[in-house]
Amino acid sequence: MTGRVTLPRTGTEAAWRRAARGFLSAGVPPEDLRWTDATAPQGLFDNEADVPDGAREIRVPRAFAAMSNAVIWHNDADRFDRLYAFLWRLQREPGLMRDRGDVQLAHLRRMEKAVHRCKHKMKAFVRFREISAPQEGRRQFAAWFEPTHHTVEFTATFFARRFADMDWRIYTPDVSAIFEDGRLRFALDVPRPELPGDASEDLWVTYFRNIFNPARLKVQAMQSEMPKKYWHNMPEAASIPELIAEAPARARAMAAAAPTLPPVRTARVQEVARAQAPDHWSGPREGFAAALSGCARCPLHRGATQAVPGAGPETAALMIVGEQPGDLEDLQGRPFVGPAGQLLDAALADAGVPRAEVYLTNAVKHFKYVTRGKRRIHQRPNTSEIDHCRWWLEAELARVRPTVVLALGATAAQALTGEGAGILQRRGATERGRHGGAVMISLHPAHILRVPVPAEQVRLRRALTDDLAAAFATCRGADARIGR
Ligand code: URA
Repeated sequence: MTGRVTLPRTGTEAAWRRAARGFLSAGVPPEDLRWTDATAPQGLFDNEADVPDGAREIRVPRAFAAMSNAVIWHNDADRFDRLYAFLWRLQREPGLMRDRGDVQLAHLRRMEKAVHRCKHKMKAFVRFREISAPQEGRRQFAAWFEPTHHTVEFTATFFARRFADMDWRIYTPDVSAIFEDGRLRFALDVPRPELPGDASEDLWVTYFRNIFNPARLKVQAMQSEMPKKYWHNMPEAASIPELIAEAPARARAMAAAAPTLPPVRTARVQEVARAQAPDHWSGPREGFAAALSGCARCPLHRGATQAVPGAGPETAALMIVGEQPGDLEDLQGRPFVGPAGQLLDAALADAGVPRAEVYLTNAVKHFKYVTRGKRRIHQRPNTSEIDHCRWWLEAELARVRPTVVLALGATAAQALTGEGAGILQRRGATERGRHGGAVMISLHPAHILRVPVPAEQVRLRRALTDDLAAAFATCRGADARIGR
């Protein structure tokens, strides 16, 4: 049995698996088959090889299944031949997936990586425009996108999950994905539609201009993250050349405006505060800040201007815990007043949570940093510093007795629950804190500010907003029940 095996352009993965199993069961070697997809021209002597019936079950390592599931969507015309040849060998060499020196495997791994990269770009760079009339029921959106590989079908389930409550279409020069009333289907060779301009385009441009940090500009890294070939379909990309051109002057202005090291007299102020502070505090709120200002439980007090206590009403049902004061918080003595605080404020406003009703504090009360020239660069506190500072956090918890504590990021999660790993998987979940109460896990706003891909930033910011709203709603529900 020799000949050509033509796979359909949609449903390709299932068709490939069925055919590969059939040919493998019938013992047809790779050199007897020529695999193509339905766009390949018919060769003069190509007869179609029928998939043999009665396939037996073929067992493959999980790693091969995952790899073939990606490689199938690569744009290389040889992809199916390569996969079948490798699968054939795998039946005879069971350890092949672990052979790092195998040239065929290395090639397939590169193809797999390229497809995943393309999938990632598609998730980040598809820009929908609204095509529904304002009063219509389900909102409708459409986008034009030009992927490098055949990744539409591979990525469409992501969009179906993310945008389940609207109808959308992603048109591409090859396969288009159409999601209507919760059902996903694919269409071939749909001509490029005329899509209307969209109000959200301005939003993208404004958003991109705002998150662009001229001091961190690395043109090559940026272009590798957001390759030029995608720019013409992304409204915000039009401002990139201008932002790059302006970056050096803006970075110089930022450096000149950056806060300088705390003044020398700070050391004096710290000394006096420490001398006057009780070594231990267990009393009412009034004494808390004074006691904290003298804290020398760990070395962080040496470099900081002052310890930053929490702020907010003693009766707050929601306590939000960040990592540690940043540069501005250290100078002003109040939590969340710098850039991360601004993002938090915006997310609180979006979530409908009044900041004045929340108690805001940090897991670590002194700013940890290294100096670079005149600038103080944030450093993450280590476990010992978090543990030393926990005493103060527990004192705040005992005093405020919040219904829910929202931990922003790994340091807060570690201080509150004893576990700081895996924040992205844990976010949105409610865990039991060491203090015995409910701790919801969310993302730190400074982490969101550092994410380089705008769409990802938007997504994470929405996640933070959702968590704030959920935590607040939980407090409200609990308030109603316990009459707080
Ligand atoms: N980041 C934090 O974790 N806390 C602050 O107070 C400011 C920035």
